[in-house]
Amino acid sequence: MRTRVGIIGAGPAGLMLSHLLHLEGIDSIILESRSRAYIEGRIRAGLIEHWARDLLIETGVGERMQRESLFHHGLHFCFDGELHHIDFQKLIGKGVTVYGQQEVIKDLVARRLADGGQILFDVSDVAVHDVLGASPRITFSHHGAPQELTCDFIGGCDGFHGICRPSIPAGVLTFYDREYPFGWVGILSESPPADDELIYSHHERGFALYTMRSPSLARLYLQCAPDEDIDNWPERRIWDELHARLAGTRTLKEGKIVDKLLTAMRSFVVEPMQYGRLFLAGDSAHIQPPTGAKGMNLALADVMVLARAITAHVRTGRNDLLERYSQTCLRRVWKAQRFSWWMTQIFHLHPADNAFDRKRQLAELAYVVSSEAASISLAENYVGLPVEA
Ligand code: APR
Ligand code: PHB
Repeated sequence: MRTRVGIIGAGPAGLMLSHLLHLEGIDSIILESRSRAYIEGRIRAGLIEHWARDLLIETGVGERMQRESLFHHGLHFCFDGELHHIDFQKLIGKGVTVYGQQEVIKDLVARRLADGGQILFDVSDVAVHDVLGASPRITFSHHGAPQELTCDFIGGCDGFHGICRPSIPAGVLTFYDREYPFGWVGILSESPPADDELIYSHHERGFALYTMRSPSLARLYLQCAPDEDIDNWPERRIWDELHARLAGTRTLKEGKIVDKLLTAMRSFVVEPMQYGRLFLAGDSAHIQPPTGAKGMNLALADVMVLARAITAHVRTGRNDLLERYSQTCLRRVWKAQRFSWWMTQIFHLHPADNAFDRKRQLAELAYVVSSEAASISLAENYVGLPVEA
């Protein structure tokens, strides 16, 4: 098998990379270890930055999102039992879109297949070879048969637990890593909205977040111990904690819990994000606490840069954009890492913190909601910093 770009992983990064390349007339093949049903059913965060919404619409995969998504002008900070709305639209003229990541996946898969794109699902034993040469190879098994894909470039879009990053020899990458002494319990519940926009809540019992997938599907998260056992969180305990920690909220209604998960918290970046003709994009190169809702948005930003660099090479032979891929992506990645860290530290109770730290957090929250400058800073980071031209 041969293609211009071999892409490992059919998450937001891999699917959008393949789609953007196709729009430039550049062929690719996506190798995905899971089934189509699995990746389209995998529930993840669902918050799309302003520029990413435009990208989906302008590249022809945003039509259903425009119909079915919720557009939010801002969000609420809840602390000291009070709700404070921050209106991004009023402050900076932009908002965010609430639309499940699995919906974006469905839209991208449908469009790639409609355009004749090749996505091989249920592959296994994926390995990369000769990435320092001009014709890197990907070997894998599909339907029990060994396969080999020769290409010009490899998109390493296989997420944090994929094989691409570990394929890069020791000593090449620098790792930046921070773990947090807490995690999240998350639920999806068939309950009416507690509010029309997201609520981030600071509470003495721990952080809580209210968000939603639709007017009848609420998504809620609670700070918990880092190595929590989900069985320690029966439904009654979850709802009791949510009522307590979202006390300032108008009307949090309970409902049937249809999904329950544990999320660990970690900040992680590798530099550089490339090795020869292997380019890491999205979670394969970096992850961050979900507090800032940056994961999918960073994945889309990385592949915008990569698609542009590959297109420039194919069209004109220039390599400078490819050579600068990592540094271009990392400028945005590190700003998103900082913001995700900041949102996490301001809301979560840290075991090493004391009463002074709680008061400091409350003072910072009070400052953000009362200062136009601080609110604008929050707004521009949350809706997504401008993408570099
Ligand atoms: N071979 C082929 N596919 C693989 C392999 C492998 N060895 N390992 C992982 N994959 C697939 C996974 O099944 C998944 O579908 O790669 C895909 C990686 O997708 P994501 O993990 O979604 O990563 P990314 O596309 O970078 O998007 C990041 O997705 O997981 C969320 O929270 C994350 O919002 C963030 C976003
Ligand atoms: C979600 O929609 O699941 C979500 C939204 C915002 C966050 C985290 C998760 O900060």
